Amino acid sequence: RKGNFDHFMLKEIFEQPESIVNTMRGRVNFENRTVKLGGLSNYISAIRRSRRIVMIACGTSYHSCLATRDLFEELTDIPISVEIASYFLDRRPPLFRDDTCIFVSQSGETADTILALKYCIERGAMCVGVVNAVGSGISRQTLCGVHINAGPEIGVASTKAYTSQYITLVMIALSLSEDRLSKQSRRNEIIDGLGKISAQLQEVLGLNDRIQAVSETLVDKLKMLILGRGYQYATALEGALKIKEISYILAEGILTGELKHGPLALVDADIPIIMIATKDKLFDKIINGIGQVTARSGKPIFIASQNGPTLVEGKKKENGSVETKAELQSAETSYVRFEVPETVDCLQGLLNIVILQIFGYWLAVKKGYNPDHPRNLAKAVTTE
Ligand code: UD1
Ligand code: M6R
Repeated sequence: RKGNFDHFMLKEIFEQPESIVNTMRGRVNFENRTVKLGGLSNYISAIRRSRRIVMIACGTSYHSCLATRDLFEELTDIPISVEIASYFLDRRPPLFRDDTCIFVSQSGETADTILALKYCIERGAMCVGVVNAVGSGISRQTLCGVHINAGPEIGVASTKAYTSQYITLVMIALSLSEDRLSKQSRRNEIIDGLGKISAQLQEVLGLNDRIQAVSETLVDKLKMLILGRGYQYATALEGALKIKEISYILAEGILTGELKHGPLALVDADIPIIMIATKDKLFDKIINGIGQVTARSGKPIFIASQNGPTLVEGKKKENGSVETKAELQSAETSYVRFEVPETVDCLQGLLNIVILQIFGYWLAVKKGYNPDHPRNLAKAVTTE
């Protein structure tokens, strides 16, 4: 069942151009630029009237909520909070009948998420599921929801479920704003982006060999920093989770804006650093972060936009298009750089994460570990 692949994880990474299309099938109309989610159609207007949306999940599923929170805020103007299910349960926070809670889970059987769902049902909140496994506990116990239709995910490290959850949450945010004329052009831009995303993801998979070669240089490392900001903070956290759970390298996802508040002390010429530096409205701040890292002799590996500014690639590649502090500071050095196609800011994480999934995979394999069966972990965590 692994086909030509040695592991389910790699097979599932490579399935993503197809699985994300399955997530959108029959739901996104690319001609009329509309989104219709059968499972939510009777509830959309009630969700629109909620005074707050609380997204609740664990692990990778939690990261898909973080990845789309900005877009929910932008398109719905409803306050959004994102909660790790166990921490939510520890706190037992106030919750009201006019809150909508969205439970995101691949398996639909994660104990913490199910217990959080019970807590929210008891308080009369409207409970919505975003689930892969049809017929699972969360799918059955929520009032309504959306199946992500990614197909079975076998590898313990979640990959294709993440990109399908991400797209499902984007579709929900689009549906919630469908009655707002003022958001029409933004919605159109995102739907057009969704129309191209599968082919672009396929292109990213073409970097597999290069990522494998670069991972070879990092197998002996014990720790690693992954930096991102804005939409790419979730990518940094999810990439770090992938790397730590299967390669056992202590990878930490860091918000670039937090560098000076502590993590910068870790930066030196030895520590591996991956910086997500794809172009978006925060690009000037990203450049600033690069400057902070390279000024401390940090040698980042970049995830950057195709045809993007030359960043810090060195004099020989300088095209004069940007004059940045970071570029000048590191003008003598060349850095490893993976270029990904450019998409709409809120979808860029769908492409960037694939680089880190593949990285995690090769780090594990080269260290002699089976990425499908990381030690101490189970696919579905059915106890608290
Ligand atoms: C449904 C069918 C799909 C069919 C399509 C045709 C199922 C599972 N899906 O897809 O096979 O091709 O109609 O129109 O039979 N739900 C929850 N909680 C969740 C997830 C879903 O309550 O976490 C509910 C939904 O509100 C809905 C039902 O389960 O009532 C099916 O959801 P979903 O598969 O997303 O609906 P469709 O995409 O319409
Ligand atoms: O089935 P769920 O989505 O509820 O699972 C949540 C987490 O246990 C899961 O995403 C876990 O973090 C993965 N092993 C990460 O790859």
